[in-house]
Amino acid sequence: MGSHITLFLILFITITHFFTINAELITHREALEIIIGGGDADPPSPPPESEDCPPPPPPPCPPPSIPPSPPLPPPSVPSPSPPPPSPSPPPRPPPSPQPPKKSPPKKSPPKKPPRPPSPSFGGFVSPRIALVFPVIQAFKKKITSDPFKITDTWNGKDVCAYKGFNCDTVPDFKQIALSGVKFNNYNFGGPNLTLTDFITGLPDIVYFHANSNNFTGTIPTAINKLRYFFELDLSNNKFAGNFPLQVLQATKLQFLDLRFNTFAGVVPPQVFFLDLDLLFINNNNFIQKLPDNLGSTTALYLTFANNKFIGGIPPSIGNAADTLLEVLFLNNMLSGCLPFEIGKLKKATVFDVGFNQLTGPIPHSFQCLKKMELLNLAGNKFYGVVPEAVCSIPSLKNFTLSFNYFTQVGPKCRKLIERKVLDVKMNCIIDLKDQREPKDCANFFSKSHTCPDEKSLNIVPCRPGGSATELVSSNVEWTAPTPALASAPVLAPGPALAPGRGSYGALSPH
Ligand SMILES: *[C@@H]1O[C@H](CO)[C@@H](O)[C@H](O)[C@H]1NC(C)=O
Ligand SMILES: *[C@@H]1O[C@H](CO)[C@@H](O)[C@H](O)[C@H]1NC(C)=O
Ligand SMILES: *[C@@H]1O[C@H](CO)[C@@H](O)[C@H](O)[C@H]1NC(C)=O
Repeated sequence: MGSHITLFLILFITITHFFTINAELITHREALEIIIGGGDADPPSPPPESEDCPPPPPPPCPPPSIPPSPPLPPPSVPSPSPPPPSPSPPPRPPPSPQPPKKSPPKKSPPKKPPRPPSPSFGGFVSPRIALVFPVIQAFKKKITSDPFKITDTWNGKDVCAYKGFNCDTVPDFKQIALSGVKFNNYNFGGPNLTLTDFITGLPDIVYFHANSNNFTGTIPTAINKLRYFFELDLSNNKFAGNFPLQVLQATKLQFLDLRFNTFAGVVPPQVFFLDLDLLFINNNNFIQKLPDNLGSTTALYLTFANNKFIGGIPPSIGNAADTLLEVLFLNNMLSGCLPFEIGKLKKATVFDVGFNQLTGPIPHSFQCLKKMELLNLAGNKFYGVVPEAVCSIPSLKNFTLSFNYFTQVGPKCRKLIERKVLDVKMNCIIDLKDQREPKDCANFFSKSHTCPDEKSLNIVPCRPGGSATELVSSNVEWTAPTPALASAPVLAPGPALAPGRGSYGALSPH
């Protein structure tokens, strides 16, 4: 069912709180609550989003301190209380699986009473809105394909009622402003539908979400001037060329979703120094060794899947232990052995390196992945004994080792096989069913396999003393079949549990 594998990101942005209440008391991480949950795809025709608009402003009493009409002071006013990134914000608690939720709980009344036009701002509700009106109208001209007739609503001076735009009170100017753009699934098209002169003409925006449109071109450098810009979603558009270096200037970004474009070349290491919560770059054409500083990332969710990354997983990944929850490397061309440092990811619930060229045994440090739920090593060249201590991780829900060269599983792992948590089909475990042909195994083990630092594979960072007692048989010789040690049930393909949440949702374009 398509809807179950479809990304459903509810970005619940408590704009009202963000903008209006004592901004200095609220860190940006509290202000932006990202809930990543499973659920239905957005309907092809997006529903009206009037309920996402903030409550209308109180009828403006003549504000003495506000300039009566544009042009406006530039947004460089030293703002007494912007909600800046706090120096070292505590990571948010991980989003728990949420039932599909279409609307955040805190909602203003669905029907907006019409805004009383104010004669003092040229008919616009505020000078900040007057400022963006011509920008939106100019952008409207570039849209030549609008299958859902969204732009039909972009008429008149009530800009806050236009479909795809949200307004709220901006902290530094303390007046109604355009706070966000939400074009998801609008399928806007045009021969030159670029962000140029559009995104940077909206100086107060907090987010720009444009999943599934036909945007092309480049990202304007001036996005670094957007002083509240926290979220950029350009997924499933027509962007191409190199990684958009411009985003490196947008240092407030917490959410960067560039998946499903045709970006190519390399991802600059500086991306991993951004203060991001989420980085989705899957389904592009990135071709490179993963940067050594990958572990500097503050992201909770990382998706590298379906690109052409090569080389090893940088050991620095262990440095992300305090934040990283889910990481998807699947379907790349990664090679080498797994660094033991992966075992430091004590908060991680998803680690997926399926279908790469990785090799070596499973490091004993993996038993320290105390929160791991979905561990996928399928389709590589891993070998050796599956550590019993890894099979003992209580939270494991799906441990996939199929299509490798593992040779042994102990009783704990066999329990998981029985419970269909562990899948070891197409390995070299002689007494189990659905294994590779003996000659494939013999062929694989006829060559020598080693890891550069074999000793490190015994390190168990979460244990006093720090090393494993279990044997690491990194170079098991393939021997003739011996009598069955245990009778494992036939491995029928289990019911596919839809990975309907989190990073896996990012593997579908919408
Ligand atoms: C926009 O992209 C969609 C999906 O790729 C495509 O079907 C549509 O024809 C495009 N529209 C324009 C105007 O380019
Ligand atoms: C596309 O639009 C951008 C900015 O709006 C402009 O600079 C550029 O010249 C346009 N390109 C074409 C081919 O029309
Ligand atoms: C377990 O995960 C693998 C790889 O991610 C997936 O292909 C499989 O469908 C999952 N199995 C279940 C039972 O969810």
